[in-house]
Order: sequence, then structure tokens, then C-alpha cells
Amino acid sequence: MKDHYPNPGFLSFEEGKVNGKVHWKSPSNIALVKYWGKYGMQFPKNASLSMTLSKANTQTSIEYYSTQKKPTREFYFSGEENDAFASRVWKFIDSVEPVFPFIKHLNLKIETSNSFPHSAGIASSASAMSALALCLVDMEKNILGTLDNDYEFEKKASYIARLGSGSACRSIYGGYGLWGQAKSVHLDSDNKFAIPYNEGIHPFFHYLKDAILIVDDSQKEVSSSMGHSLMDDHPYSDDRVAQADHNLLELAQALKAGDQNVFIKIVENEALSLHALMMTSDPWFLLLKPNTLAILNKIRQFREKTGKFVAFTLDAGPNVHLLYSQNDEVEIQAFINNELRPLCFNQQIIFDETGGGPQKII
Ligand code: PMV
Repeated sequence: MKDHYPNPGFLSFEEGKVNGKVHWKSPSNIALVKYWGKYGMQFPKNASLSMTLSKANTQTSIEYYSTQKKPTREFYFSGEENDAFASRVWKFIDSVEPVFPFIKHLNLKIETSNSFPHSAGIASSASAMSALALCLVDMEKNILGTLDNDYEFEKKASYIARLGSGSACRSIYGGYGLWGQAKSVHLDSDNKFAIPYNEGIHPFFHYLKDAILIVDDSQKEVSSSMGHSLMDDHPYSDDRVAQADHNLLELAQALKAGDQNVFIKIVENEALSLHALMMTSDPWFLLLKPNTLAILNKIRQFREKTGKFVAFTLDAGPNVHLLYSQNDEVEIQAFINNELRPLCFNQQIIFDETGGGPQKII
């Protein structure tokens, strides 16, 4: 980590001389080509591509105050103390101290909250870790006067977010994000950080709707770190990397050509392949619920009947993301409300869409 981002090794601040507040809102993202399997310091086994969301986001602020005493730390989630989240956050902050050496001289107060209910079963680590990374990088900018160019700022934020949760590095950019080395798709692609992937995208794909159909709102049965580690000795591990590389290239071309059929084919293949990998690992995991399967079948029937552009994708859980075009909003929302909503837990749906990326609040 130090090799990539060296900073002054020794810093000392007078009591209260350095103080301020940073505050960011950062979105979640949904992978179209999935990251599944990692090595070393959170490097992906294959490159992934995602769409950044808008409504599902995390807001995080950090207040800091330099001290020569033992620094104090406070953490609040939705205005309340939360030991489980606090220990994850402080562990992460300690781990990035080699990159941000000023951290150990500061009293820190972190406040964070999600726009969506924590129990909705949608992954919050991408929005949470990207918001935290943006705050840390912004503190560096304020304190050391570095990173005044947006490209360097975002690249470092993405690098730091990756260390917190791999998929979080893609949330730093609006539109589409590409993470992992895939030179045939983009020469600047890198395993250490994500890059925006928005140049030359066909207007049809500039903006998509994403209805997140909540089939089950319980906590994930398999943590993503467990899931990634199951890929280490997975019998299909090498083939998965080859499949992801192939899918990524085809999807990248479809996004540029505006090819809706190829988009649907790849995105649904990636979703089902992710779950197939979980079902065929040792131990196996089966996260799809009966209503997930019912929803997937209804989506396919609707597409066959109407010829409309609808594509599903899945995270490592039972909830379904339904992607569609704004042009078909009325008809597809009627389909969702009549046929899919009754299959959702407590009829819960989050209507999200392509987002423009993180926002600095303070
Ligand atoms: O970032 P992690 O370690 O929570 O892994 C995310 C894995 C998937 O959500 C299943 C796929 C992805 O690329 O986001």
C-alpha cells in the first residue's frame, strides 16, 4: 500500500490547529459483469463492470481535530452508536493509516446513514466504503494540500474504497465503472482502482431504470469475503475468469453499439453464473428463493410477449434488479406492480436508476 501511495512519514499537529469536517454522499452500484474471487490485497481475479445507482446511497461525514493526547473516536450509524459497524470502520481506518499518517493525530467523529433500510437486503458495503474513502481522501486534500486535480482525487478514492470492499471502488464514478485489468476493453483499466467507462456509450444505455425487487430482507447467508474465498479452490475457477473476460468484452461492445439483445444475454448470464458458482462450491450456497425464480420466469415471459427491453441481474442474494428503459416506464411499472410486487417481501421495491456518482456535501 505504501509503495503505491507514499505520504510523509512523520507529522505532528498542535492541539486543535488542524480541524474541519468532510461530508460525502456516495451511491451503491450494481455489477453487470460480476467480480467474484480475489487474490492478494483485494485484487480481483477478473475485471468487472457496473452501473452506478442513484437512490441507494450512503452519507458519511468525518469531523477531525488534531490532538497531542491520545486521540478519541466516536461513531454513529443513523444517529445511534453501533458497535458492529464501528469496529468494521475503525479496523479499516487503522489499516489505511500507512496511506494517511495524519489519522493517528486526530480526534475523529464519524456519522453515517443509508438512504435505504439496512435490512432491505441490498448490499451497503459499496456505498458505505466509497463514502468513507471519499471522506478520507478529502481530509488529505484539506490537511496536506494534495490531490487538487480531480483525476488524482478520484483515482485515490477508488484505490482506498477497493481496500474496504472491492466493489466499492466502482462507485466513485457516475454512469458505468470498470475495475480490473482488461486492456482489450480500456487501456487505462487497472486492478488497483476503477475507472469511469462512459465514453462512446450508445444513448440508449446512458440512462436505465433499476427496480430492486426485495424478495427477502434478511442478512446475507454468505458474506462476500467467504464467497470470494470459495473461488480459490473452485473446480470452475479458471473457466470463470475466461468467461468473465469474454462477457466483459462482449458487453462493452454492446454498450457502445446499443445492442439490447447482447446486453440482456450477457447481463443475465453473469447473474446466473454467479449463483451457479455458489451452488457448485464446497461448501455450496443456494441463495435464490422460490419467489426469485418465479420473478425471473415472469420477466422472461414478459419479454417474449411484449418484445420490450427488460433484463434482470442479481447480487449475491435473492433480490432481483430489473433493468429497463425510461421510454417504457409506464408499461413496465404496471407489469412490476401487477405481477412482480406480490412476489416481493412486504411488497417492497426500491425504484432506482443510473446515477451521476458521489456528491460532496461539505
Ligand atoms: O465488494 P464485495 O467484496 O462485497 O463483493 C461484491 C460481489 C458482488 O456484489 C457479488 C459482485 C460485484 O461485482 O459487485
